Amino acid sequence: MILASQDLELSAIMARERARQRDGIELIPSENYVSAAVLEAMGSILTNKYSEGYPGRRYYGGNEHIDEIERLAQRRARDLFHVPHVNVQPYSGSPANLAVYLATCEPGAVIMGQNLTDGGHLTHGWKVSATGIFYRSVPYHVRPDGLIDLDEVRRLAHEARPRLIWCGATAYVREMPFAQFAEIADEVGAYLAADIAHIAGLVAGGAHPSPVGHAHIVTTTTHKTLRGPRGAMIMVTDRGLAKDRQLPEKVDRAIFPGLQGGPHDHTTAAIAVALNEASRPEFRDYSAAIVANARALARELIRMGFTLVTGGTDNHMLLVDLTPDGAGRGVLMQEALDEVGITANKNTIPGEPSSAFYPSGVRLGTPAATTRGMREAEMAQIGGWMAQVREEIRKFLLPEDRVARNRALKEFRATIGASPRLKAIGEEVRVLCRRFPVPGIS
Ligand SMILES: Cc1ncc(COP(=O)(O)O)c(C=O)c1O
Repeated sequence: MILASQDLELSAIMARERARQRDGIELIPSENYVSAAVLEAMGSILTNKYSEGYPGRRYYGGNEHIDEIERLAQRRARDLFHVPHVNVQPYSGSPANLAVYLATCEPGAVIMGQNLTDGGHLTHGWKVSATGIFYRSVPYHVRPDGLIDLDEVRRLAHEARPRLIWCGATAYVREMPFAQFAEIADEVGAYLAADIAHIAGLVAGGAHPSPVGHAHIVTTTTHKTLRGPRGAMIMVTDRGLAKDRQLPEKVDRAIFPGLQGGPHDHTTAAIAVALNEASRPEFRDYSAAIVANARALARELIRMGFTLVTGGTDNHMLLVDLTPDGAGRGVLMQEALDEVGITANKNTIPGEPSSAFYPSGVRLGTPAATTRGMREAEMAQIGGWMAQVREEIRKFLLPEDRVARNRALKEFRATIGASPRLKAIGEEVRVLCRRFPVPGIS
């Protein structure tokens, strides 16, 4: 209310975004709806404070309460993930990952990670990322069946002798083989870092195996399935301590003063709230429901004739392969789904025949819809709508030539914008959404 009376322009934009979040179905696997308690901590007076350093060792006065907050967040993270050391200060997942390089590698060191177009993250050594510019990246891939090619990982590791190996992904639908990665890392003496940004909530809730008994370092964002604010954590495991006693100190120094200045204390408080929520029995039910929903959506899509990478899912995410309708059609599906109020994102598929900008797949995830209380019946409904949307856009082509493609996209957008069928589906989506309120949005 105060914002609306003081800044009409911004509050009007925020009202439109609030309505978008409320009236549509969010299927982007890295998004979620935080609780009202997390929002309250994020939007608090804690944003006023500077606190460079760590609890008990700050470069500013007046940090007695901030110290308590950060220690609380650390303790909750240690208890939830069963690790001896955690740093809760990374501003987000990407700087957390960069700090791992700083803590474990000399500039120019050899590192390995899952190739971006095979589902890995930019920060696992992709060529345009700082991690691929300042370190020598040797990427590994998935096999044509969509599973990580562990034979290739082993062969490349023995050839390249990396200092650091990443496991964990942005677009991977099967259980992450942490034990096999640890075996390979041990064979070549590398640090193993597990990036569980996507699956942290499933790990916390027992719906996905934990990397903690296998990796030396675990990084995660605190948003996504963990359902906290936008932030991140770096954890050092007992295996990490056994490999390098100084690892906790190296990680802490990499974050501050290596990469960052003052921590975002309002975010630290909101992380503490989210970790507390994730330690409750209801969160176990939530994470089990995320996976059950993803499997239900997968079943329905297959029944409707869609092709899924690996034929299904073990986690919160699905990758739809649209190549049976033609290469590069992810963008058409994403935009047509947007038109009916279903938000998803275009994504590359294994052996992508098109490009990263015009990929042939769509990535879907169930964490946000599950938070609203949607369950398997609603997943079946969503699968049905997706099949109708696919039918509606099947006739459109996406030419390879740039000029012809731009013309085709323009025509496509005009046609879907005026499609009575898509309008009718959009109305059905809104009716469903009204039954499932979003936390923090009335
Ligand atoms: C596996 C993985 N790691 C790291 C990140 C980076 O997180 P952020 O966007 O907060 O920098 C992401 C974000 O998509 C991710 O999927």
